[in-house]
Amino acid sequence: MSKSEIKNLIKITDLSKDEIDHLIEIADQIEANPKGFSEMCRHKKLATLFFEPSTRTRLSFTAAMMELGGDVLGFDDAGSSSATKGESVSDTVVMAGCYADIIAMRHPKEGAPVIASQKTTVPLINAGDGGHFHPTQTLTDLLTISRKKQLGNFTIGLCGDLMFGRTVHSLIEALLRYEGIKFILISPPELRLPKYVKDEMDEAGAEWTECEALEDAMPDLDILYMTRVQRERFFNEEDYVRLRDSYILTLDKLKTAKDDMIIMHPLPRVNEIAVEVDDDPRACYFYQALCGKHIRMALILYLLGLK
Ligand code: CP
Repeated sequence: MSKSEIKNLIKITDLSKDEIDHLIEIADQIEANPKGFSEMCRHKKLATLFFEPSTRTRLSFTAAMMELGGDVLGFDDAGSSSATKGESVSDTVVMAGCYADIIAMRHPKEGAPVIASQKTTVPLINAGDGGHFHPTQTLTDLLTISRKKQLGNFTIGLCGDLMFGRTVHSLIEALLRYEGIKFILISPPELRLPKYVKDEMDEAGAEWTECEALEDAMPDLDILYMTRVQRERFFNEEDYVRLRDSYILTLDKLKTAKDDMIIMHPLPRVNEIAVEVDDDPRACYFYQALCGKHIRMALILYLLGLK
C-alpha cells in the first residue's frame, strides 16, 4: 500500500455515512456467517499499541483479528515498551509498521494518533486518545443501535460525565448525520457537554435539551446511554469524589422507563449502573461489547482493502 492509499481512522468523521453503513452491513454478515470470514486475514498481523489501560477495546481487537484468521502482536502497557526510554510515538508506529499490516493504538495524550498517522506506513486506528476521540466505540454504539432499534427517529438520553466522556462526543457527532434524533443531556452542572459539541448540534439543527435529574428524562427515552465519571480525567480527587455518585441507575429508577427502552454503556462501569439492572431485558451493555468485536472485524477488513 502506498502512503497516499493508506486509510486511517482517527475520528468518526473520517468515515462518511455510506462507509459507516457499509461497515454495519459487513458486521451483520459476520454475525450471520462467522465461518465465511475466518480465513480472510490469514498471514496478516495487527499491532495493538496500548499506552493506556483497556479491557474491551484491546481484547475485542485481538479477538477480531484472531477470528479473521490473522495474528496479533503488541503491548498493553507503555511501561513495557521503549517509550520508557524516551522513544517517540511516531518512531514506535514506524517500527510497528515494519512488523504488522495494521495498527490499533491507544494513547492518553489527545492528538497522539494524528501525529502518529503522519508517519505510519500501514493503516492506523485510534483506539482512544485521552478525552478526545474513540471512533471504534462510536462504531460499536452505532452497530448496537442499528441492531436493537434503528439509526434514526428516537430520543436518546446521554447521562453522566458529558464533559470528559470522549465516547459521548463522538457518538453525538455521528448521530447528527441521522434524521429525527432528539438528545437529552443529563449531567451535573460541572460535567455538562462542552460548548463546541453543543455548537455542532446547533449547526446541524439538532433538537436537544439539558437537565440534571435522570428521573425527569426517563419516561421520554428510547435509549439511555450511561457513562462513568472518569477519575483519570479529573485534576483533583476532591471533585471526583463529590461527583462520582451523581447517577446510579437502579431497577427502581427504571420503573418509569419505556418497556422497550435500551440501556447502553461503553463500559467499564464503576457503580453508575447497579448490578441488579444487568438481568433487566432492557440492559444491552454486554451485548454492546459483543458488537464491538463484529464492527472491529469489519473495520480491519475495510482498512486492509479486503471488503
Ligand atoms: N469502552 C472501552 O473503551 O473500554 P476499555 O477502556 O476497557 O477498552
